Amino acid sequence: MYCKAISVRNFRNIEEAEISFCEGVNILAGENAQGKTNLLEAIFYPSVGRSFRGAHTPEIIRFGEKTAHIHMEYRDRKRDQTIDIRLSRDKQRQIEKNGLRLDKLSELVGSFRAVLFCPEHLSMIKDGPSERRSYMDIAISSLYPSYLYSLQTYSHLLRQRNALLKSAWQDRGAFDSTIELWSEKLAHEAAIISDMRLQFAKRASRHVAACFAEMMGEKEIPSLVFHGSSGQKEEEYADRETTKKKYYSLLTSSYDREIAAGATLWGIHKDDLDICLNGKSARIYGSQGQQRSLALAMKLAEGEICKEEFGDYPVFLFDDVLSELDASRREYLLHKIKGKQVIMTSCEPNLLADTEGVQRIVVKNGSYFSFAKEK
Ligand SMILES: Nc1ncnc2c1ncn2[C@@H]1O[C@H](COP(=O)(O)OP(=O)(O)OP(=O)(O)O)[C@@H](O)[C@H]1O
Ligand SMILES: [Mg+2]
Repeated sequence: MYCKAISVRNFRNIEEAEISFCEGVNILAGENAQGKTNLLEAIFYPSVGRSFRGAHTPEIIRFGEKTAHIHMEYRDRKRDQTIDIRLSRDKQRQIEKNGLRLDKLSELVGSFRAVLFCPEHLSMIKDGPSERRSYMDIAISSLYPSYLYSLQTYSHLLRQRNALLKSAWQDRGAFDSTIELWSEKLAHEAAIISDMRLQFAKRASRHVAACFAEMMGEKEIPSLVFHGSSGQKEEEYADRETTKKKYYSLLTSSYDREIAAGATLWGIHKDDLDICLNGKSARIYGSQGQQRSLALAMKLAEGEICKEEFGDYPVFLFDDVLSELDASRREYLLHKIKGKQVIMTSCEPNLLADTEGVQRIVVKNGSYFSFAKEK
């Protein structure tokens, strides 16, 4: 995957910019608050159809403007492609691929593939399960658009079911007559999603172990273990009918508790991913450096799985990552990204100044100036 160029209008602090990228390493260099991360956000947006910062459309559109536009030119294994995203404060977002309108997000996801890594991803190791679910969701969605479809269906069903649980006090009759139907539908999607999460975790675990060993030596072996809220054993998830029955029985067994909580207590929204070193929680026992390297290995694993599945690497987007790594981890990363396209930000004006073939893009107040390194 090669991101050739991007044109951005009224996106964050970028009034208008047109930037071309080289196929190797591109560095967005500049002082704080100039628009480095903003540009990475614009590049990542077409890959999953949302901001990696979790920002809503009104926050993304430039202050005082009504609309924003991203036009991306990229090449996948087949041919040159374009994606256009038009955001508006008062109209629905419009997405086009090669000039043709896409109606569903699942038609976009999987087109332009990118893996983004930023220091905040340390929260995958340090914080609660929602960060890890989000890691799995973004990675699996960009591999299989059907996963995103199931996920969207699931969250719609979950909202409906939770609303029903909250209104059960007022209208028990309506609750009793429809709750089983919602539980059945929810259990159906939960079985699909949990099986795909489990398969992904097993696959990612192998790659994380390999990357981590290269980075840190072979001392401690990491593993990612899927922890589904149905409480089944690993091998049971492959039979989706069994998982569905398990969830259905959980969802229909404790209405009183669920009504009291006003929320659905079982389902994939409660799943987790245990991240361990030699079988022990990396969150509790890992050193700061181990945790940081694990988070990086989890992102590199996403890239390796993409390569296995589709035959080429995604574009790697690194926000302020090199400055966080010590010299040997830095060297490892630079070695690892050879032959892949990388767009990275840095506040260090001379980062990789002596490396051939690196394209340096100076960022100043939402403007971008390219300098190709002479060979
Ligand atoms: N919707 C918006 N409209 C205009 N400007 C915005 C908008 N959202 C954010 N900004 C501005 O963008 C700037 C931050 O840009 P960005 O996050 O890209 O900085 P950066 O170059 O990555 O800096 P750092 O090195 O500190 O991470 C801030 O000055 C902020 O006020
Ligand atoms: Mg930044």
